[in-house]
Amino acid sequence: MTAPDLPTFPPGFVLGAATASYQIEGAVAEDGRTPSIWDTFSRTPGRTLGGATGDVACDHYHRYREDVALLADLGVDSYRFSTAWPRVQPGGRGPVNPAGIGFYDRLVDELLSRGIDPAVTLYHWDLPQELEDAGGWRERDTAHRFAEYSRLVVDALGDRVTRWITLNEPWCAAFLGYANGHHAPGAQEGTPALAAAHHLLLGHGLAVAQLREAGAREVGITLNLDQVTPASDSEADRAAALRALTHHNLVWTEPLLAGRYPESERATWGELADGSYRRDGDLEVIGAPIDFLGINYYTPAVVADAPHDEPDPAKRTAMDVGTRQVERPELRHTTMGWPVDPPSLGRLIAEVFERYPDCPPVWITENGSAEADVVGEDGVVHDTDRVEYLAGHLAAVAEQIAEGADVRGYYVWSLMDNFEWAFGYDQRFGIVHVDYDTQVRTPKDSYRWFQRLTAAQRAARGREAQA
Ligand code: FCB
Repeated sequence: MTAPDLPTFPPGFVLGAATASYQIEGAVAEDGRTPSIWDTFSRTPGRTLGGATGDVACDHYHRYREDVALLADLGVDSYRFSTAWPRVQPGGRGPVNPAGIGFYDRLVDELLSRGIDPAVTLYHWDLPQELEDAGGWRERDTAHRFAEYSRLVVDALGDRVTRWITLNEPWCAAFLGYANGHHAPGAQEGTPALAAAHHLLLGHGLAVAQLREAGAREVGITLNLDQVTPASDSEADRAAALRALTHHNLVWTEPLLAGRYPESERATWGELADGSYRRDGDLEVIGAPIDFLGINYYTPAVVADAPHDEPDPAKRTAMDVGTRQVERPELRHTTMGWPVDPPSLGRLIAEVFERYPDCPPVWITENGSAEADVVGEDGVVHDTDRVEYLAGHLAAVAEQIAEGADVRGYYVWSLMDNFEWAFGYDQRFGIVHVDYDTQVRTPKDSYRWFQRLTAAQRAARGREAQA
């Protein structure tokens, strides 16, 4: 099969690869790191597939030089990684842990020595367990703790890091963490989960203030926005689609980009959205200007009206908004069961700029697919489906840019196979294959394809510089 055409981008467009601390680092008890909610959750029987934990993961903590060499060979401009809060500030309070921040200090220097621009995510879900014991994101204090921790990181790395992402996918942290319990800390709640969503936003805003004060270069947040389409034109399905949109997108984008809470929140959660967790002035903190909006995108959502799981509104979790996702048998599905529909990413980008004309530049901070990879006899993974997935989604981004959308960069998820949360090690998202028994890394065909893309992008830059 011939590889799909390479999409073309403006010369300044940035190509990168992304990972997250708990998914790759391992070394969970080294150099003073204390447990996070993901250590606790993954060690609790029945929470992750096969009882998988991030204890070793890709052993990146010890192999980061090799991994940076892979990034350099890939030719990416930028690498997005996250700092583990319980490494930097064990227990979530008090001074910086020199050994913990030391790891990121070395990583940043290694990246820069290879000409790769570091992009740091401050929270990719590894909340220190002690803070969860004190209520976690249900509690307002956690937002203040997050801002304090963010300051420790920016004070140490801010001189060399270009791009700062406060939170990764607060939707997952709030709703998978506190509403349906699929993620750490595994709680199933109503109003407290909505409080968690609010405190995550507040934590973002308070962290932005700290980052600005410390002179951070570019500051933003990463959301996993859904591209929502109603299953039919019926009033019921359209109302359901609005509830899904509120739950997934508006709860974040309205306070961040429009300075208000979503009008549709009562229609979505009823009495659960009682606002008891909000204070005057919060919206101003949350809505502080950001330099970019990060979007993680994987799959679209066609939404229909459906009965609530729990008939008694007061007993519902915040996940139970009376909607159902319609199956899409006409589309290919990844091993996650996610339908593949590249043009939907283009639609999402267009929808964001339509709803928020003053939206700051967008970065696609994650996009990728889990496939049933097999290492062939030639020692190579011929992941044709992943190449097609990436090519299709990148083409959708390129098309939006050609139509005038301000999208500045794209990070593939993920540099390498890793701990896929509740799915453990079964789902492989990497463009580099990881053998978890030997820790051998093998670039897949998708890595080779992306390498050609970064080379083409560099060539385009060279041409522009000469012109
Ligand atoms: C996103 C997460 C990332 C990874 C991908 C597949 O929700 O941010 O860590 O798990 O999905």
